Amino acid sequence: MSEAVHPVPADFESRIGPAELDALNHRADTDTDGFWLEQARRLDWAKAPTRAGNWSFHEADFGIRWFEDGQLNLSVNCLDRHLAERGDKVALIFEGDEPGHTQRWTYRQLYEETCRFANLYRQKGVKRGDRVMIYMPMIPEAAAAMLACARVGAIHSVVFGGFSPESVAGRIEDCDAKLIVTADEGCRGGKRIPLKANVDKAIALCPRIDAVVVVTRTGGEVAMVEGRDIRWSDVRDTLPTEAEPEVMDAEDPLFILYTSGSTGKPKGVVHTTGGYATWAATTFDWVFGATDRDIFWCTADIGWITGHSYVVYGPLMNGATSVMFDGIPTYPGPDRFWETCDRLGVTIFYTAPTALRSLMREGDAPVTKHRRSSIRLLGTVGEPINPEAWEWYWRVVGDGRVPIVDTWWQTETGGILISPVPGAIDMKPGSATKPLPGIKPLLVDANHQVLEGATSGNLCLSHSWPGQMRTVWGDHERFFQTYFTAYPGLYFTGDGCRRDEDGYYWITGRVDDVINVSGHRIGTAEVESALVAHPLVAEAAVVAIPHDIKGQAIYAYVTLNAGESGSDELRKQLNQEVRQHIGALAAPERIQFAPSLPKTRSGKIMRRILRKVAEGETGGFGDVSTLADPSVVDQLVAGRNS
Ligand code: WTA
Repeated sequence: MSEAVHPVPADFESRIGPAELDALNHRADTDTDGFWLEQARRLDWAKAPTRAGNWSFHEADFGIRWFEDGQLNLSVNCLDRHLAERGDKVALIFEGDEPGHTQRWTYRQLYEETCRFANLYRQKGVKRGDRVMIYMPMIPEAAAAMLACARVGAIHSVVFGGFSPESVAGRIEDCDAKLIVTADEGCRGGKRIPLKANVDKAIALCPRIDAVVVVTRTGGEVAMVEGRDIRWSDVRDTLPTEAEPEVMDAEDPLFILYTSGSTGKPKGVVHTTGGYATWAATTFDWVFGATDRDIFWCTADIGWITGHSYVVYGPLMNGATSVMFDGIPTYPGPDRFWETCDRLGVTIFYTAPTALRSLMREGDAPVTKHRRSSIRLLGTVGEPINPEAWEWYWRVVGDGRVPIVDTWWQTETGGILISPVPGAIDMKPGSATKPLPGIKPLLVDANHQVLEGATSGNLCLSHSWPGQMRTVWGDHERFFQTYFTAYPGLYFTGDGCRRDEDGYYWITGRVDDVINVSGHRIGTAEVESALVAHPLVAEAAVVAIPHDIKGQAIYAYVTLNAGESGSDELRKQLNQEVRQHIGALAAPERIQFAPSLPKTRSGKIMRRILRKVAEGETGGFGDVSTLADPSVVDQLVAGRNS
């Protein structure tokens, strides 16, 4: 690993330098409650909280609450509070799939559109605490649909447009959604995505939805169901542009976002209002430090936590201008990002390492043909960034003149936890550097020993922070089991990590059965259950293999029923099975038919061996004496090469 150090460029302007960061850290350590309450005061509260955190990670008194006596409305914090001073400032810049297909929405327009959605929800009987699903492209109406949930106190659950109808149905059922907001079609990289048709299929599988709101994106033909489906364009003008905000308790749920874990179905990660809002607003300010002059572009989709916290809530609470990009990095060409940065005057650009790796292989010319002079800060998120990609980002995209923030966090953490504060911390390519103020990481070994100094271990957090998830929707026990039992009294992140002699953190990736494909979390168990749904499959095991662009890819071992034999046609069918159950993002890179899987005598699959075989190793499998049938290993090696 590279240990190069890049000092903060001398002319980088920031409100937080090393001294200010020291002061924040000191305050967080010595007057913890005062420190957190001060962060909460960034928000407009209907009733200001007097209490900061009230939490325990221990089984006996387990629970996580923040600012619990406070009351607020998050849409008010994103919109109403800006109207007097920034009503005409651009809140969102929509940049469509085709370059220059751009729309600018001011804070006032976004406020009015949000109120219209809120009024429609109320007309349709959506009440405080009800669930609304959002399955949309990256259009400003999607942000308005989210903010309108916050306005009426409904809980949104945004589902990424790349998930299949079956996945949508599973989520509708799990959270018992009442209403869905969707669009006719999505449009990405010149291809259409049949969003409304997918919703229809999902509802056919799970008929509990009362109303479907369809926003026009492409104008493509869609079927409308009488009495259930509503075209946004038919009702929009009839809806009032004012809507009374519900006053919410700080601990009322704001949203559910489904994410994959090591076992079972995706979990509904629940975030609540006051703590999440405080954390999204605070981290946006500390890490990106956007001022009124900035144009902030986070390329994530709102179907992921990054889109929630840093396309919608963080920027809007801070009164910034946020770009909503409805395209892909390589369309119409590999210079799309930089052409768009120049055209829109983007000052802060935040993307995923996988996107950088896919652009890097196109060479420097697509970057250098654009000026990029407006950019003053770059960021990455979603997976470890390899030092080569970091250096390319630094040298070619940033011309060696702008800091890079490598931000480590998770759906569960609500916002960034480990990242450089860009004016205050020197950078090391590949390291997310140090925890933000108030964040207390620990490295722990398999024997539950907390490790000190320069070392490697499993990454845990010993203290809660306001943006921490509060529960798994409908299954509080699973929440506790998943995150707090591996290391009692600590939150376990699922990531492995190294800490160097300077106290810098280097996240090495998941240590559980979660695969990070192009920054998207995929649970091995989900893919396996999709594969075994095929009638010819007896058993399946899925592991991660390294991939130059995606970071990791999915390698699947499939055992067929006795007497069946594998073929390319069957591989296609299995691939289709995964697309149908989950979505294209989970499709295996490779499927190997295996007569049997390496199991211990107690029946546990030894994934360590499967990983090595998938990576092309032919020996050095370590101790295989615990296998029920050690000859399986040779069969696997032979099968990989065939
Ligand atoms: C990984 C995305 C290394 C990590 C915000 C984590 C990272 C998982 C980084 C969460 C980073 C995210 N460096 N690894 N800067 N950021 N990860 O829930 O394994 O989609 O546990 O949240 O992504 O993915 P999630």
